[in-house]
Amino acid sequence: MDLEPPPDVGGRWLDSLAARAQRVVHPAVWSYLESGSYGEVTVGEATRAWSEVRFRPRVLRGATTPDLRTTLLGNPVASPVGVAPTAMQRAIHPLGERATVAGAEAAGALCVLSSNCGTRWDELGGTSPWWLQAYLPSRRELMLPVLEGAVAAGASAIVLTVDTPFPGSKYAADAEDWTGIDLSWWRVNFADPEFDRWAPDLGVDDIGWLRDRTGLPVVVKGVLRADDALRCIDAGAAAIYVSNHGGRQLDRAVSTASALRDIAAAVGERAEVYVDGGIRTGVDVLAASALGAQAVFLGRPVLHALAVDGATGVERLLTEITAELAEVLALAGCASPGEAPEVLAASTRTAL
Ligand code: FNR
Repeated sequence: MDLEPPPDVGGRWLDSLAARAQRVVHPAVWSYLESGSYGEVTVGEATRAWSEVRFRPRVLRGATTPDLRTTLLGNPVASPVGVAPTAMQRAIHPLGERATVAGAEAAGALCVLSSNCGTRWDELGGTSPWWLQAYLPSRRELMLPVLEGAVAAGASAIVLTVDTPFPGSKYAADAEDWTGIDLSWWRVNFADPEFDRWAPDLGVDDIGWLRDRTGLPVVVKGVLRADDALRCIDAGAAAIYVSNHGGRQLDRAVSTASALRDIAAAVGERAEVYVDGGIRTGVDVLAASALGAQAVFLGRPVLHALAVDGATGVERLLTEITAELAEVLALAGCASPGEAPEVLAASTRTAL
């Protein structure tokens, strides 16, 4: 008897994204996107760590459609799901950051752009709020023209990445053959893209320096400890962005899912708290909200969506994760992500 092929039940578009992106991205670039550092332990456990979080849903509260609108450092957004800063976007799609900005804008989401960006700030297009991610070099003043250009082009916060005194080794990507890949779009906002980019001597005083030089609030990205979060706030940070750089810096650094709760509890109302790393579904976002994050950011999934369908793909990704979040918030008996901490089960294991 001939067996019928299984019916096409569609499946979850988001689950097919990575495989479809791999088919259209150059193998060396693909390896760069996906890789973690060293033994890739941290990158490997990021998503699984979110699934450790457990909820105790509330019932009989007159379910309403959850309200996902919020503000992030005063910027209104339709969803707490935003775009993490990632380099190399023009290696993935010809329109690179312009497509990402357009997709985020269509979804009403906040976009953070990497300073290692392939599009000039004044050519980004879009009118929605965006934030600039910055690394600081040893000679801080070399960064000023880049910062001033971003401020002039409308950046409304600076995200200072502090987990990268230098890039961690990524053996898989470093071994790839990059011959033939056009790197002319690399770091186009710098007068000299080759200047020394890393500052091993970065300290909390750089937070105030950055704020005073740009006039913008500073978000500190790459924090995994409550004591560091408090030092950053004391030094003037407006928000703490819990991240292990997608498992690309110190391997075996704790998952962000396990670090978030302590940090959010210590910070309290003193600053906003965000998180990224391995977030792939609306349930993951619910988990992050329950542990105290006001916003989450997506790294690799945005690059996958960009590769597959440009701005439309980025919009669809953000819209679908946001719709999933709305659904699971309603199932949890929450009217907004801000209520999610109330449904966190006491049994949730988030110890470091
Ligand atoms: C990154 N990330 C990153 N972070 C940053 O502060 N500046 C940067 O230029 C980059 N570039 C970058 C490139 C690529 C290819 C990746 C995958 C990541 C880290 C990024 O902002 C974020 O922390 C992680 O990607 C989040 O994890 P997920 O969502 O990729 O699992």
